[in-house]
Formats: sequence, structure tokens, C-alpha cells
Amino acid sequence: MIVTTGQLLRIAYGRFAVGAYNINNMEQALGLFRGHIQAQAPFIIQISKGARKYAGVRMIEAIIRACDEMFPEAIYAVHLDHGDEKTCYDAIDSGFYSSVMIDASHEPFEENVAITRRVVERAHARGVSVEAELGMLGGVEEHIAVDEKHAFLTDPDEAREFVMRTGCDSLAVAIGTSHGAYKFKGEQRLHFDRLAAIQQRLPGFPLVMHGSSSVPREEIERINAAGGKLDPSARGVDEEEFARAIPLGVTKINIDTDGRLVWTRVHREHFRDHPENFDFRKPGEAFMEAYATFIVHKSQKLRSAGMLEYVRQALQHAAEVGG
Ligand code: G3H
Ligand code: 13P
Ligand code: ZN
Repeated sequence: MIVTTGQLLRIAYGRFAVGAYNINNMEQALGLFRGHIQAQAPFIIQISKGARKYAGVRMIEAIIRACDEMFPEAIYAVHLDHGDEKTCYDAIDSGFYSSVMIDASHEPFEENVAITRRVVERAHARGVSVEAELGMLGGVEEHIAVDEKHAFLTDPDEAREFVMRTGCDSLAVAIGTSHGAYKFKGEQRLHFDRLAAIQQRLPGFPLVMHGSSSVPREEIERINAAGGKLDPSARGVDEEEFARAIPLGVTKINIDTDGRLVWTRVHREHFRDHPENFDFRKPGEAFMEAYATFIVHKSQKLRSAGMLEYVRQALQHAAEVGG
């Protein structure tokens, strides 16, 4: 069942974080749904501009519609990840998305406010929620290379002003994470002091953490042992820190890189161990199983595991009282 992102985040706030995972193909989608049913967790499916181009807008939607029929128990939202203004309008007008992210964080503050405000007006008229971003993550965001040195954290006062002026429904904040496998050097960590200051200015308002893959060392080692050449210094977010971020308002946690690592590990090990194989279904099956297991593990860390029934009842209650 597709629900609105706003509803999901309201129910989750302060209790658990909703995992938001990018999909590009059938195998990822099936693993994602199977894993969340096993974990009894609600979730958010994210579609990036790259995924829309890779699989085709219609194909991605068709995959999700098929999963919706195959897994009637699932409760999830469909979200456009890192949209520009035009792609946000396409997604809003399609009627298929629960929410869109307008990522104008690379623009000056006033321009970010103006663009986000326009998207919010159009989205809210169609019952779609809007995630915006303020501050800049390091790494690479959809073809915009952000120099590590210039990555800057979200300013708490600006965050409050930004939310008030734009009317956005959730805010992606820069608190030290970055996209991809190479997030931290040395002892760098998340900036919890900054997160607490943002929450203080925006109590009860859902915050989003992008770049939240944990890049497990064991996964990198297995990939490299099977012929990969990933930099062994790759480091991600400590999964144990999710539990600290949740009471500070982090309600949606974006994870993509870790899923790509699962895909790479499964396929490299499969073809190393079965060099005679040329049936793509064999590694495909192994990947879907490994991906579902990975989702169960992540749901436990996000504290969304076991929350499905609670969310179902909260949605039912909200419908009865007209909320
Ligand atoms: O933050 C971006 C996500 O990891 C999606 O990546 O744009 O290559 O699909 P993508
Ligand atoms: P990772 O690269 O850490 O998985 O972040 C994904 C993300 O933020 C998608 O929007
Ligand atoms: Zn992101």
C-alpha cells in the first residue's frame, strides 16, 4: 500500500527512522519488498533521475505496481530522490509519487528558497509532500561535484527560516555525511551538536539524513578478495549512530551505496566461484536473498523493524479522525 510520505514521517518521528532505498531494477525491488515484509517494517522507495533514465519512467513505475500486487501487506511511500525543478514537476504531475525532493542546495539561499517554494506550491496542490535540502553534503550529488573542503554544514537559524518560508515537509540536513563509499577520513563523525541545534529550532519537524550508508569493512574486503579494486580506506556512517540521531529528529535515512556493495559482492563471488555459469538468474537469486537479509539488518538498526502493525493502526486511526 502506497501511503503519503508526510503521514509515514509523522508516525515515525522520534520513535524510529524510515529507511529510504534507491531502486533501479526488478531484483532490487523484489529484495526490498521481501526484506521489509520479513522485517515487518515500513519503508520509502526512492527513484533518482539516473534510475528514471536507466530503466525508464514507465518501467520503474510498473515494477513498483507489480510489487504492490505481490506484497499487499507492505506499507511504503514512493519518493523522487534529488530532483531538479523540472523532474519534480514531472513526478508530481504523474500522480504516482508520494513525495519529491527538490535539491537546490547548490544554489544561494534566496534562490533555494524561491525554487523550493515553487515546488511546494505545485506539490501540495496535488497532495504530494516535499523534501528540500539546505547545506551541502561532500561527495558527488547527481553530477554536481562538491569539493570536500567546501562541503558545509546546515546552519540551524537558516534551517528554521528556510522551513518557515518554503513550507517544505521535511529537510535534508548536512551534518557530516556525504554520498558514496568514501565518507570519512580518520576520526571524522556525524555532527550531533549541529543536529541537536537544528532540532531545537525545528521541534517535531522531520529531518532527513542523506549519505547514510555504513560501507561495511567486511563487504569491501570480500569484494576485493573476489577481484574488486575498492579503496580499503572506504568508510561510512556507524550504524549504531542511527539510534542517537532518531531522538534528534532524523526520521528518514537514505541508503543506496550499501545496496550497491551487496550487489557487487554477490556477483563477484558468484562468478569467481562459478566461472562456468552464464545463467543470470543464479546470481540474481543470490542477490535478492542477500538484499532482503541486508534490509532486515538495516531495519533493525533503524528501529523500523516490527513497526508495520503499529503504522497500520496509526494510519487507520488518522483516517477515522480525518487526520
Ligand atoms: O544520492 C544518490 C543516490 O545514491 C542515487 O544514485 O543518482 O546514481 O541513481 P544515482
Ligand atoms: P549513500 O551513498 O550513503 O548510500 O547515500 C544515498 C543517498 O543519500 C541517496 O539520496
Ligand atoms: Zn542523497
